[in-house]
Amino acid sequence: MKKIRKAVFPVAGLGTRILPATKAIPKEMLTIVDKPLIQYAVEEALEAGIEHFIFVTSRGKSSLEDHFDVAFELEATLHARGKSRASIAHTQLEPGSVSYVRQQSPLGLGHAIWCAREMVGDEPFAVLLPDDLMLGSPGCLAQMVAVHNEHGGNIVCTQRIDPEHSARYGIVIPEQRIGSVTRISGMVEKPAPADAPSDMAIVGRYILEPDIMALLATQERGAGGEVQLTDALARAAAKGNSFGYEFQGRRHDCGDATGFVIANLAVAMMRPGMTGAVEDFWSAQNAVPGVADTERSHVAL
Ligand code: UTP
Repeated sequence: MKKIRKAVFPVAGLGTRILPATKAIPKEMLTIVDKPLIQYAVEEALEAGIEHFIFVTSRGKSSLEDHFDVAFELEATLHARGKSRASIAHTQLEPGSVSYVRQQSPLGLGHAIWCAREMVGDEPFAVLLPDDLMLGSPGCLAQMVAVHNEHGGNIVCTQRIDPEHSARYGIVIPEQRIGSVTRISGMVEKPAPADAPSDMAIVGRYILEPDIMALLATQERGAGGEVQLTDALARAAAKGNSFGYEFQGRRHDCGDATGFVIANLAVAMMRPGMTGAVEDFWSAQNAVPGVADTERSHVAL
């Protein structure tokens, strides 16, 4: 089985669900506690053995490129003040291991991945959507690489959902279950609950065979008028060798405000030195009569 060396990070979306935060700041640069979303995804990829990081960017995303570059002034200041560089670890990737390609128009996830075809070449590769924060140990992608080593083929990460929410996701058509891996025969993008073939939703991690690029190249627009990765994956699955993997861990969709806030709380609650303060704040907040209502009225303003 070919090693998964390359990962594509599509970061060219507009992030309209979390405006105005994303008007001038890329969604992937929004921070969960003290680290931008993109860095969580890059660290997950490093843990999974990824050697080449391919970012599909667009206009206005240059802060993302700066984040993974050397910051001479900052480094010199930390050094002069005798401060540790630990806080900026993992923001400098191996020279030559990062590539950027532009998606000129946000035509959809499938189109963004297709934009990376020359850099991906002829080998299987990973795709990580940074707005899906995956918490788990080992990390989600490392779990999926292990599944790929065993089964090969296209692998989509799945999560069980409330069937009422099927219209928010790509949903897989299961064929045969082998532990946490399910052989799948197809998938449907954003079906109404009555049309959903299962409760297994596709979430933001994939391992793809390189021939997916040929399917994306010829593809018409699908749901929402966008080139959908799910449609190309469905065509690939009809030919066999496609799997869903139900990962062990927790996913937070940080692409909308509610998911983003919950992710911040979840990470803060796990962070040594922060848990107690968050818990204390929460208990104090609930203990003072009327405070919660006052906060709500400020938010409404
Ligand atoms: P989303 O479906 O969350 O789309 O994309 P979006 O445009 O970023 O956000 P909303 O729906 O308008 O709020 C999932 C991932 O795919 C990337 C996004 O940057 C995100 O990481 N993407 C999406 C692209 O790179 N290009 C696209 O055309 C669409």
